[in-house]
Parts: sequence; C-alpha cells; structure tokens
Amino acid sequence: MAVSREKLQELLKQEMRKIYSETVIDHSMNPRNTGNPGNVDGYAKVIGPCGDTIEMWLKVKDDIIRDAGFITDGCSTTIAASSMVTEMAKDRTASEAQRISQRDILDALGGLPEDNEHCALLASNTLKEAIRDYLAMKREPWKKVYRQY
Ligand code: FES
Repeated sequence: MAVSREKLQELLKQEMRKIYSETVIDHSMNPRNTGNPGNVDGYAKVIGPCGDTIEMWLKVKDDIIRDAGFITDGCSTTIAASSMVTEMAKDRTASEAQRISQRDILDALGGLPEDNEHCALLASNTLKEAIRDYLAMKREPWKKVYRQY
C-alpha cells in the first residue's frame, strides 16, 4: 500500500519532534531566505570543521541589512540555523547583526542537540564574514567590479 507524501512528512515530523524543537523542524522543512537575492553588498562562504559549507549573501542599504540569503550543503540543523540567522539579521544595522552569536541562534531555535550546536556557530560565523565583506566593500567600492556574485 502506497503511503501519501503528507503521511510521510507527518511521520518524519513525529520522529524529528523526539529530538528537535518545533522551530527547528519548521526552519529545516520550510527554510526562509534561500538563494542569492541578487545585486548584493556582502558575501561569504565558510566551511565548518565538519566539512559543511554555508554561503550567504547580504543586501545592505544605509548600513541596514535589508535582505539576506543562503545556501548550504549541510544537514537539516544547518539549514535551520542558516534560515534563522538570515531572519535575525534582516532590519538590523551591520554592527548589530555582527553581534548575533551562536547562543542567540540556539535560543531563537529553541535549542539544538549538543552534537549539532556547531551548526549554529557555522551560521553565526558565516553571517559575521559576510558583514566583514560588506564593510570591506564599503571602504573600497571599486572592488565590487571584480565580484562574480
Ligand atoms: Fe556540520 Fe551541521 S553537521 S554544520
């Protein structure tokens, strides 16, 4: 007997609920801000110690992060952490967003299992690196001409 897609998703969620918060499940199954929003002002690609990568793009106007996007080849908790950090960064100044820590992301997600806490660190580090890139481009805007993103 064939099992419907909806039924399979519900079974998967039931299993995930044993380990993850509803917020983690929501952000991993329905990630916000995926992809490059285009015409960006800051970019970073960071590889974590586990080998997973997050790429992140920022659109900034008047020093406020107006939009953010990401892609990752990481696990579901990396997707959730990336989704959350891009949501948290939007509408903050660059210096406010630079202070978003691993702890802030973990708190916003309702926690992660200890083995996955590094996913939030990778997301935080990638945001910080993208902001550093934005600040460097702001100092030397002519370098943007050579960018491929
Ligand atoms: Fe490495 Fe998620 S398992 S970043």
